[in-house]
Formats: sequence, structure tokens, C-alpha cells
Amino acid sequence: MSFPMTSTPAVICGIVFAALAAGSARAQMLTPVWIEAGATGAVARVVVTAAADCPSVTLDGTVKLMAVRLPVPAGLRPACELAIPASTQTASVAGKPLALPHPDPSRVVVIGDTGCRIKGTAIQDCNDPALWPFHSVATGAAKSKPDLVVHVGDYLYREDPCPAESAAFCGGTPVGDTWAAWDADFFTPARDLLAAAPWAFTRGNHESCARSWRGWFYYLDPRPFGGECDGFSAPYVVKLGRFQLVIFDSSSATEKDLNLDSQAIYAGQLAGLNVEHAWFVEHHPLWGLKLAAKAEPGTLPSESPTEVTEAWEKAPLTGIDLIVSGHTHLFELLSFDQGRPTQLVAGDGGTEMAMPLPAKIAGLKLRGATLKSGQDAHEFGYTALTRTDSGWSLALTNIAGKILRTAEIAAPSAKTTALKSN
Ligand SMILES: [Fe+2]
Repeated sequence: MSFPMTSTPAVICGIVFAALAAGSARAQMLTPVWIEAGATGAVARVVVTAAADCPSVTLDGTVKLMAVRLPVPAGLRPACELAIPASTQTASVAGKPLALPHPDPSRVVVIGDTGCRIKGTAIQDCNDPALWPFHSVATGAAKSKPDLVVHVGDYLYREDPCPAESAAFCGGTPVGDTWAAWDADFFTPARDLLAAAPWAFTRGNHESCARSWRGWFYYLDPRPFGGECDGFSAPYVVKLGRFQLVIFDSSSATEKDLNLDSQAIYAGQLAGLNVEHAWFVEHHPLWGLKLAAKAEPGTLPSESPTEVTEAWEKAPLTGIDLIVSGHTHLFELLSFDQGRPTQLVAGDGGTEMAMPLPAKIAGLKLRGATLKSGQDAHEFGYTALTRTDSGWSLALTNIAGKILRTAEIAAPSAKTTALKSN
């Protein structure tokens, strides 16, 4: 599936003296310079006011000028980028060090579903940091000093103009797939965390070809930008030492009326992967739980399979220690029998919460398997996974800095045991 793009004229960053560029960059960069991981290595990116503002990066003492990422989509500010060679030991912009990728990262933060929802009658209070707390979530995560940040998708939620009667919540907010909306929903609140660690970005359904795909592909996808939307962009593997992430695009997946053509595409993409002890990062949970809005007390949660679930169940991808997702606006950590990898749902990064799950979910059946243990939380926060001798130690931390849930996740078998919750 492809869509033509309305592009502004291509502009190439001019050649300027590096020192001049570095000096001017301080005033004209609209974001920190962030580092993101891709299949072929890391890339540095920054959003600037105009193409001529691209700063230079000092890599191991050598000054390199960042280039404008082209084509610049209509409505977006230019991004500048520079590939970071794997051998790079130090990188800085205007004297400020950049957070380069760690081989074998020992502390990974996972966040997801972070924007402020303005669509139809669903209006979140974007002006109340307790009701849209993404800035607090990101700042707290930055202070925890991660080696890597994984965002599981759904960045842009400001899709409709703020209704007049909701002006106290969102009056004057920018909307749509524009720089101003991306800045308000993601770049400004994520600022500290963008600078604190390298990121791996996953695409959510809010970044589908019918929604905010331009900002997704231009700013966040690590690959070259072609100016068109691909509804099924190819999965890729991020390798940091022995640590592997499969980044899987499920932006076109649906939860109703599953589409056999989509399922066939996802089956082909899964069949082409070959990984060991990897995390499978996909916006939609393979096996998640949710409750319908306004569900009666006592209602059991339902499953939320997509075409990716159907494809996986027919031919499971091997070599996966953990499935990392979002989409449902809760924290869930679900461990199954029948050899399924543990499922983490980290959709609690800032967007209005989903219905809380019932008190007891262990023992529930999900698509033929039994939930051996399960934890959930109905509270905003970030999930950190810290490497241990036997796997990963997980902690969910809320915006007050309180640890809400903990668990030990064994690898390679990825059996999860709930140690305690408080
Ligand atoms: Fe989503």
C-alpha cells in the first residue's frame, strides 16, 4: 500500500564552517539530538527550524555535519541526521555528549501510548499533568538512567481540533500530522528521555497510513525516507552485542474482521526472521486482556487477537524470550503455559487509561493457553527491565517514583514469576 506525498521542495543543508554550525545550533534546534537504533546501526537525528540549521556532530574528535532528511513532508519541520559508525566511542553536539548505544544493554526502559487523546468525544485534559502525565513518566524514566528506551508505539493522539466546550483541557492545541502536534504530543514531553539514552521506536496504529504516518516515517523510522506510506513496513532486528530486538510493524493490524491478506503478509514477515533470545516488539499484544468500556462488574476480560496473532499461532517465531507491546492502556505482564513467551503490555505511558482488569486474572484461558500468572496495573508509569544473572528483573514505576509491580523474567525460557506487588 502506498500513498503519494505532498512534499515541500527539497533543500540540502549547506556547507558551513563546523564551528559556526555548532554555535548556531544551540539556538535553532527544536529538539535534543537523539540517537536511535536500527538494523544497520545507529543514527543521530534532530529537528530544526530550517534546513540551514543542521548542526555538526563531533565523532571521536572528528567534526561531521548532519544532513537534512529528505524529502521534508508538508507541515513538518526539517530533521537532520547522521549515521553513527559502530566503532564510535564518543559523540557530542556543541560540547554536549550524546548517549550512544551500549552493547548488551543492562537496563531497558519500555513506554508506550503516550499522547494526549483529542478525538471525537474523547477529550483528555492535556493541561493537567496528573491527567496527561507523559512528561512526568519520561522525566522519571530519564532519571533512572536507562541504557536503551523502547517505545512500543502510538505517539500522536491530537487528531481533532479541541472542542470549544473543552477549551480548559486543550484550547489552542495543534492537531494532526504536523510538526506542532508532534512537538506537543511527543518531542517536548519526551525531551529529557530523548537525550538520556538511545531509542528503539515501534510504529502504532496511530501512525498508520490513514493517520500520522508522515511524522512517523520522517522523524522516527530509522530507515531512509521515501516520501510514501508503507502499511506493512518490513520487520528488522536491532542487535546490540548479544541483545536483540525484533521491531515489528503492526500498524495495519485489526482486532475485528481479521483480514486474510494481512495475515499472509505478517506470516511471511515472521517466517523471514531468524533470531536468538530476542524481544519481539510489536504495538499490538499477541495475547492481551482488555475490558470493554462500561463493562458490568464481574465481566471477564476479553482477548484482543490481530492478524499477527493468527499468523504467529500457525507458525510461531522461535528464539523469542519476551513479547513487548502496548495498545491497551494498562500495564500487563502475562505468563502462559504451552511454551508461549511472556507478554508485557506497557500501554500506560500517558494516554487516558483503559478499564482496569478484574482482581484475579491468573487461570484465565487465552486462545487455548492458560494464564499461569498475571499482573496488571491501572496507573501511569514506565517499565524498566534490568539484566540479572538469570534473565531480567522488571519494575513498574509510577509518576511519583513508587515501584508498583516487580517480577523476575527468566531467559531463555522466559518463565515469569510474580515476586510481589504493592
Ligand atoms: Fe494503539
